[in-house]
Amino acid sequence: MACIYIETFGCQMNEADSQEIIDRASAAGYEVTSDPSAASVVVLNTCTVRDSAERRAYGRMAHLRALKTGDSRVKLIVCGCLAEQDRDRMRLRAPYLDGVFGTSDVARLGEQLAAWRPGFEDFSEASEARALLRLGGEADCIAGAFSHLRAFVTVQRGCSYYCTYCIVPHVRGRFDHRSLADVLTDVRAKVSLGAREITLVGQTVNAYREPARGADFADLLERVAALEGLDRLGFLTSHPKDFTEKLVRTLGALARLNPRFHLPVQSGSNAVLRRMNRKYTIEEYLEKVAAFRSYCPSWALSTDLIVGFPGESEADFEATLELCERVGFAQAFMFVYSPRRGTPAARWEQIPSDVGGERLRRLATVVDRSVRGWHDRKVGTTVRALVKGPSRKDASKLALKTSDNVTVVAPAPICSETALAERPWLDVSVSQAHVWGCSGTVAGGAERYDGPAIPFAVSPLFDIVSLVRS
Ligand code: SAH
Ligand code: SF4
Ligand code: F3S
Repeated sequence: MACIYIETFGCQMNEADSQEIIDRASAAGYEVTSDPSAASVVVLNTCTVRDSAERRAYGRMAHLRALKTGDSRVKLIVCGCLAEQDRDRMRLRAPYLDGVFGTSDVARLGEQLAAWRPGFEDFSEASEARALLRLGGEADCIAGAFSHLRAFVTVQRGCSYYCTYCIVPHVRGRFDHRSLADVLTDVRAKVSLGAREITLVGQTVNAYREPARGADFADLLERVAALEGLDRLGFLTSHPKDFTEKLVRTLGALARLNPRFHLPVQSGSNAVLRRMNRKYTIEEYLEKVAAFRSYCPSWALSTDLIVGFPGESEADFEATLELCERVGFAQAFMFVYSPRRGTPAARWEQIPSDVGGERLRRLATVVDRSVRGWHDRKVGTTVRALVKGPSRKDASKLALKTSDNVTVVAPAPICSETALAERPWLDVSVSQAHVWGCSGTVAGGAERYDGPAIPFAVSPLFDIVSLVRS
């Protein structure tokens, strides 16, 4: 039997591509597996946004190579942003690969899978040699009962903004906006396959312009949110430069939207923002935050931050701390600047890495306070969250995400994964808050976000009560 295993690194764009690769593989007759040692084709969808992502991908490639030693029929292929950046270098560094596919090669990858498919007719999932390797899954893999519940739909490829630190435009090309009709078709298809949450993805989704008629992102959201059968809708990522009052007015008016706005600020210093080529000032960012809060008062605001950018002084860094204190983000992804080959900032004088590391720690202390505060507000309430799968730390527990993107962990109810996937919106009574999210107990599950929750396990007491009543 032909089985495919895919590991995805990086951002929402790679997640969306991985879903497309799986769709193509399934159409060609592959089964999807969450166990690399059971796979006939292993795919690594890579990222190169920071050096750590690059090193991780090469490490994982070398590790998974053992599968091919265990069984020479196994194919190992690499795609995504690092594959695009390192196409030639990768063939030299990892000559054992069976294929390297760039970011615009997803269709060709699908054709290659279809061509290999007949060769796996007698491929057995259970191979002692491969099983002994115990490679486990590392990054997110698409498989299992819950993966169809969340679907990513690309609205825009590439990015034309060329922030001076960023590799993305170099590996994904300039903006290429999809037509509204194509986006609607994809959303309908995912919804009909059982997706409960659709995320519209692009590097700067709010810069969206419908190629034919010029509809903007607010128009697109309105059209998608009106689709029949759609449960919840989210979007990632927005750029402060393309923030408009029309957009936040629309966000506040659409009930099906997940109440979470991701608006990366990167730095609190105007001098740094200018050198980053971010195209806004902190004063403008704060005005936008104020407008957003007036239309969407209960929404979570999240961000990305970079410390240790070339030329960042202690005063610049303190401006970032001050901004974070002032805004109080519900979630923030924080990074030490990492020079990327071919980008302007990589050629500038660098900040020593220990300074970057120390600033990251100081920033985390400030950010963690507001993040924890956001989670504290949920203690004592019941939140409705979508199941992701078993918790990585404790398989007896489930990991879920609320619609404002908070991780929730709770003991798994006593029922099959299939039953859970049919009622995947769980009501969780939150008893504790942490920096990473919340924990609590499951009170019941609903088929739809706005549907009634039904308890999973019927307790003896509940049984007696219902007997007495009948
Ligand atoms: N398009 C999005 C972000 C895409 S990359 C935006 O403009 O906001 C995701 C995040 O990675 C960025 O927001 C930035 O914080 C971080 N990042 C990108 N390049 C980086 C680099 N060279 N070093 C460190 N962090 C980086
Ligand atoms: Fe990179 Fe800037 Fe484009 Fe975001 S907007 S993807 S940070 S170049
Ligand atoms: Fe990484 Fe490519 Fe996304 S470099 S962050 S996977 S667009």
